Amino acid sequence: MQSSRTRLKCPWCQAQSLFIAREVILEERPKNWVSCASTMVKVEIDSPTVRYTADLIEADYVYSTSDAKVEGNVCRVRPRDVRMTFRTKRRVPRLGVMLVGIGGNNGSTVVAATLANKLGLSWRTKDKVQTANYYGSITQTSTVSIGNGPQGEVYVPMKDLLPMVNPNDVVFDGWDISRLNLAEAMRRAKVLDVQLQDQLVPHMEKMRPRPGIFDPTFVAANQEDRADNVIKGTKQAQLERIRADIREFIASSKVEKAIVLWTANTERYCDVTEGVHDTAANLLDAIEKNHPEVSPSTIFAVASVLEGCTYINGSPQNTFVPGLLELARQRQVFLAGDDFKSGQTKLKSVLVDFLVSAGIKPVSIVSYNHLGNNDGKNLSAPAQFRSKEISKSNVVDDMVDSNSILYAPGEKPDHCVVIKYVPYVGDSKRAMDEYTSEILLGGHNTIVVHNTCEDSLLAAPLIIDLFVLAELCERIEFSVAGSKFQGFHSVLSLLSYLCKAPAMPPGAPVVNALFKQRCCIVNVLRACVGLAPCHFMDLEFKASDASVWERPKSALVPEEAGSKKQARSPHEVRTIA
Ligand SMILES: NC(=O)c1ccc[n+]([C@@H]2O[C@H](COP(=O)([O-])OP(=O)(O)OC[C@H]3O[C@@H](n4cnc5c(N)ncnc54)[C@H](O)[C@@H]3O)[C@@H](O)[C@H]2O)c1
Repeated sequence: MQSSRTRLKCPWCQAQSLFIAREVILEERPKNWVSCASTMVKVEIDSPTVRYTADLIEADYVYSTSDAKVEGNVCRVRPRDVRMTFRTKRRVPRLGVMLVGIGGNNGSTVVAATLANKLGLSWRTKDKVQTANYYGSITQTSTVSIGNGPQGEVYVPMKDLLPMVNPNDVVFDGWDISRLNLAEAMRRAKVLDVQLQDQLVPHMEKMRPRPGIFDPTFVAANQEDRADNVIKGTKQAQLERIRADIREFIASSKVEKAIVLWTANTERYCDVTEGVHDTAANLLDAIEKNHPEVSPSTIFAVASVLEGCTYINGSPQNTFVPGLLELARQRQVFLAGDDFKSGQTKLKSVLVDFLVSAGIKPVSIVSYNHLGNNDGKNLSAPAQFRSKEISKSNVVDDMVDSNSILYAPGEKPDHCVVIKYVPYVGDSKRAMDEYTSEILLGGHNTIVVHNTCEDSLLAAPLIIDLFVLAELCERIEFSVAGSKFQGFHSVLSLLSYLCKAPAMPPGAPVVNALFKQRCCIVNVLRACVGLAPCHFMDLEFKASDASVWERPKSALVPEEAGSKKQARSPHEVRTIA
């Protein structure tokens, strides 16, 4: 192992070993590695098109796109370059995150995970001494290629591309219909190792959820026995109480802004009705008149929008009724969702993309799940299961629609989703999928996947990415072809990567394919610092005469440049973390 490690100096702090070959054993990290990484100078771009002021990063950018139109059997394509300028506020505010369902498995796990990281906790498991980390969060533990140079391809943590909130600094609060404090909720969830729980108890036992809105016509009847912490009164009174909670939290915790995120139980779909849900005015009126078809989640979302706070929906129900979308647009507040894309669906949005883009035709996709946590108990009721089924079922549509060689118009693979409640497996959800595809000349290929998900440990990092990226998006503006600066659309589709059923602005194409979604995030972040999208062409390494490139020879062909360093293949990867 020792021989596979390459020691170089960090270009910023001059500490040894910041660049570490990919295969290094984590336990061998030098002691200064963590502190060096966390205090590392962020990425700075050396270009006349990128300007750093005390407040802003401003980048001129050329957005290259193309318009395509099919006329008869000709597809006419017109490439277009659009001049843009991106502006990102550099100052990271003190952020508060209010979780609806904070006492649930996901809610208590997110709070526990950020505390464990903040406190630098470690604990014994039966395998080893485990230290806190943020594995599973793209912002915290994934890297982005930033360019090639003398050290080969250089990767930086996604969180260092632009100034982002550090989850360790976030202040949490929230609501739950169950009154257990967060230490008790963490124990009830049975997600974390006991030694970790024991260390966290003193930090979590004083955290008590605010009363939630319980409406047994929207969640399963089997949730009634935990509903001992509820706001009484009419829907208008509930709305006002939630708004007051948000204001009180912001004032008392001294956060500069708050984001509200639903990680409470899946509700049934509400019956969207004209005159009730169709416009902002009608929706507010329906709440005032205590209309029974306005769901608790919609009341939370309306309260959040009225308080100017981004609202994120981590569950599948149709919280985002048209009237709420209109209200968010009027108030220029972000909505994002729906339903965390954490396990089975995440894999599906990779596998089906791989199959269809390989020219293979998936014809039958069958997904079984069984889980034993409270989410599974709630989903064992037909109306709540139906919400999940809808959310899971459209995930392959964009990939299927993209290939008219494989699929005739309107043709879809058989797609079946089954969810069963099996209490014994607890939070350790089992997802079993069978993908059958047609291959060359009538052959068949069947892939069977068994995925033990550890549900909340997969969902918690997504919650972190959702609020980190949503907060960043609140600080980004852009001008298109010299027009007035504007922010993103109030339906924040940039967060699609994290959502099973991405909410999109009207008319926008839905993208479910996971790596397209990730590329979208990476390329938008790159655009904010004036970098072209990642295109993976690596033409510098494909030309027969590499000397034609402007870059110093040493960057391209170390041997030719007479470097004393050991020559490496251009694709050897180094990570800055
Ligand atoms: N991997 C995942 O865990 C995953 C993936 C995708 C979506 N989800 C969705 O996330 C949600 C939460 O999952 P979980 O495993 O944490 O469930 P959970 O049942 O453990 O937690 C939900 C919490 O919400 C509370 N609650 C219910 N209605 C409420 C209301 N109106 N106001 C305030 N609190 C309320 C419950 O008391 C409970 O503590 C579910 O809807 C689930 O479908 C989870």
